[in-house]
Amino acid sequence: MSSAPLRTRIIGTGGWAPPRVVTNDDMAKIVETSDEWIVPRTGIKTRRLIDFEGQMGTADMSEHAARIALADAGLEPKDLDLIVVGTVTPDLRLPSCAVILQDKLGANGAAAFDVVAACAGSGYALSVADKFVRAGGAKRALVVGAETLTSITNWTDRNTCVLFGDAAGAFIVEGVPAVEDGPGLIDIDIYSDGATWQHIWIPAGGSRTPLTPEGVTAKQDRLIMNGREVFKFAVRALVDASKKVLADNGFTVDDVDLVCAHQANLRIIEAIAERTTIPLDKFVINIDRYGNTSSASLPITFDEARRDGRLKPGHLVLMVSIGAGMTWTAGLYRA
Ligand code: ACO
Repeated sequence: MSSAPLRTRIIGTGGWAPPRVVTNDDMAKIVETSDEWIVPRTGIKTRRLIDFEGQMGTADMSEHAARIALADAGLEPKDLDLIVVGTVTPDLRLPSCAVILQDKLGANGAAAFDVVAACAGSGYALSVADKFVRAGGAKRALVVGAETLTSITNWTDRNTCVLFGDAAGAFIVEGVPAVEDGPGLIDIDIYSDGATWQHIWIPAGGSRTPLTPEGVTAKQDRLIMNGREVFKFAVRALVDASKKVLADNGFTVDDVDLVCAHQANLRIIEAIAERTTIPLDKFVINIDRYGNTSSASLPITFDEARRDGRLKPGHLVLMVSIGAGMTWTAGLYRA
C-alpha cells in the first residue's frame, strides 16, 4: 500500500427535498405573517416540507440523496465503508439515523454514526470523514446532512416556523493522492462555543428534562431561537473563520471562485459577502426555494453548483456552515 499523503475528494453529490412546496402565503394561513415580512428579512420565498410528521423521516430523505450521490459517483452501496450523518432530527432517539440509512441502502460493510452539530452538522461530518479517509480508516465514505425540521418546529411561533425547510444532501468522498493545486479538500476547521447553547435549543425531551404531557402542550419539544443573537454571532463567526482558513492556506479572498454557505438567512449571507469583500455573486444561493434546511443546506448548495455548471474543475470553493451550539465550520475545497 502506498504511504503517499492523501487528500479527500468529493466524487459524487446528491440533494433531495420533499415535493410539497409551501409558499409564504401558505405560511400566512398558519401564523400571522406575510410574504412582505418574510422576503426582505430572510430571502425565503418557498420551503419544501414533508407532508405529515411520521410519514417520512430523515433516513428516508437521506436515502434519496445518498442514492443520487452514489449514482453520480458510479458506485454501489457496498462500496462504502463509512457513513457519517449530520442531523439533529434522527428518525429515532435510538439508534442513529446513520445505521437506519445503512440498512435502507444495504451498505452492510460500512461503519455508521451520527454527528450532532445542528446546521453545522454536514460541515462537521465532512471533517470527520476527511480525517478517516486521510488516516486510511476509510476508503470511501458517505457524508450526509439531513434534517426533518418539521418535526421540531413550533408551528405557532412565527419567529421560527417561517424559516425552515426539510431536505437531505450527500457527498461521496474518497482519498486521492495529494497533489499541489490538485482536487480535494484543502482544509476544514470546526469550531464550537458552548457558552451560547441557549441561542437555539429545545427545552425538553432529553435526559435532564424528560418530555411530559404538559411539556408537549407547552411545546417544550420544539425549537426556540434568539434570532438577533444568532444573526450577530453567525456573521462574526463565519467572517473570522473564512478569513482564517484562507490565510492559513496561503490564499486571499480574491482566490475564491465560489462560496457554498449554510443558507440560514439571505441577510446573513449578504453581511458575510460585504465583510469578507467576496462578491455576492460568488455565493451559491438557494434559500429562496428551500428555506433553512439546517445540515442539508451545505451539500445541497454544493450539489446544485456542480449540476448547474457554476462549479468548474480547478475552482477554489469556500464552504462555511453554522448552527446551534453554537457550532461552525470553514473549509476550502479545490474542485
Ligand atoms: N412575520 C411577521 N412578523 C414577525 C415574524 C413573521 N414571521 N417574525 C417575527 N415578527 C415580528 C416580531 O414579533 C417583532 O415584532 P414586535 O417588534 O412587535 O415584537 C418584529 O417582527 C421584529 O422582529 P425582529 O426579531 O426584530 O426581526 P428581525 O429583523 O431581527 O428578523 C429574523 C428576525 C429573521 C429571525 C432575524 O433575527 C434572523 O434572521 N436571525 C437569524 C436567525 C437564523 O437565521 N436562524 C436560523 C436557524 S439557526 C442557523 O441556521 C444558524
